[in-house]
Amino acid sequence: RYMSGFGNEFSSEDPRCPGALPDGQNNPQVCPYGLYAEQLSGSAFTCPRPTNKRSWLYRILPSVKHKPFTPVYCGNITESWNEVEPDPNQLRWLPFTIPKSLDKKVDFVSGLNTICGAGDAKSRNGIGIHMYTCNTSMTDRCFNNSDGDFLIVPQQGNLLITTEFGKMMVEPNEICVIQQGMRFTVDVYGETRGYILEVYGAHFELPDLGPIGANGLANPRDFQCPAAWYEDRTVHTGYTVINKYQGKLFSCQQDFSPFNVVAWHGNYTPYKYNLEKFMAINAVAFDHADPSIFTVLTAKSTRPGVAIADFVIFPPRWGVAENTFRPPYYHRNCMSEFMGLIKGHYEAKEEGFLPGGGSLHSMMTPHGPDAYCFEKNSMADLEPERVAEGTMAFMFESSFSMAVTKWALETCQRLDKTYYQCWEPLRSHFNPNFRPSHK
Ligand SMILES: *[C@@H]1O[C@H](CO)[C@@H](O)[C@H](O)[C@H]1NC(C)=O
Ligand SMILES: *[C@@H]1O[C@H](CO)[C@@H](O)[C@H](O)[C@H]1NC(C)=O
Ligand SMILES: *[C@@H]1O[C@H](CO)[C@@H](O)[C@H](O)[C@H]1NC(C)=O
Ligand SMILES: [Fe+2]
Repeated sequence: RYMSGFGNEFSSEDPRCPGALPDGQNNPQVCPYGLYAEQLSGSAFTCPRPTNKRSWLYRILPSVKHKPFTPVYCGNITESWNEVEPDPNQLRWLPFTIPKSLDKKVDFVSGLNTICGAGDAKSRNGIGIHMYTCNTSMTDRCFNNSDGDFLIVPQQGNLLITTEFGKMMVEPNEICVIQQGMRFTVDVYGETRGYILEVYGAHFELPDLGPIGANGLANPRDFQCPAAWYEDRTVHTGYTVINKYQGKLFSCQQDFSPFNVVAWHGNYTPYKYNLEKFMAINAVAFDHADPSIFTVLTAKSTRPGVAIADFVIFPPRWGVAENTFRPPYYHRNCMSEFMGLIKGHYEAKEEGFLPGGGSLHSMMTPHGPDAYCFEKNSMADLEPERVAEGTMAFMFESSFSMAVTKWALETCQRLDKTYYQCWEPLRSHFNPNFRPSHK
């Protein structure tokens, strides 16, 4: 069950307990059904109304009932940005390897690996990009991220995400956002892989549309938020809460399921979105709009127009621009660009950039179409054509200059050392005696 809208003031009751939401107040002396009231704050109490986020959860037991947290070591998640020397090269990874549970049971949390990032969870300004690869469901284990918001991009395998707000099934070509402090557990159905963009200190929001007007890009009504669902389950063997706190993992034990919220209301919730619903807008005469025209969600920094990170997609669409080199332009950017591929073939690199892999073009690192793409598209007849049919590539674009982890450069053994070679065949077409008539 889902409710539609983005950042609305939602309210939801598990249908097994009608009237579980207190009438007309948040914290009555005694809550209906003997529940505890607990507020989850997603913004400073005093944030202006448009950015003020909080939800009230009515639960069987409050979150505070747990044994102390102790450090745990699992997965390759990190916030140490000085493990290896900086590397300004174009980087590309072959599809990341999914563990086979025959050797070792790897669930969503133990299958988290940090690829790159920057900044600091403590000062509430930064970003982490992670891959998850797993093939085992989390059993009696949940995850709670004290550091930031997770934007999860499944690439292979569905995720059944149980949260304190209810359940969400998230399939490849959908994304979901689990905001700071929301506990969740993940069930998987086989070999599972995907990407995570984590931001510290900001929440994702829909981009402003400026002259585009009131409609377009990702429309608010297409976001879905789960409806209340609870379980009243005692776990004598112990239920483990894993907490990511200041870049490290900690665990604690309690003897009950944390998914015991019978009803809730508020505007601070997890949500999901199907990328097929994106209303793409682009050039209908000549040249390109910058890729920001494909922004689904943005996590703003405090500088106007500058994002901690944007989530941008390259969806199936028509290419109709006249007298135009239609693939993405050659580029050097004051932002960092991490790209991933959910399915299909990316137009600027038909070989080598594969579903489940990735690439990183760091600050001012040159990038652009490979030689084959350049030659082909410089000669192509410019008929209206479908672009990216059956494909979904995306970009996490950040104003941070990111460090790459030891896991990404060495441990995972997926770095494609031949990447730079895709531009080697680019040759000069310069002829000082030839100036074609323009347009
Ligand atoms: C870190 O990643 C490597 C390679 O992907 C994996 O073999 C290893 O088990 C991971 N480490 C932990 C602690 O999970
Ligand atoms: C979950 O994270 C929040 C911060 O976002 C923290 O206040 C809380 O103590 C954590 N709770 C548990 C049980 O991990
Ligand atoms: C995990 O992978 C192994 C080996 O490929 C397979 O036998 C097993 O069924 C998988 N587990 C799940 C939950 O799909
Ligand atoms: Fe670029």
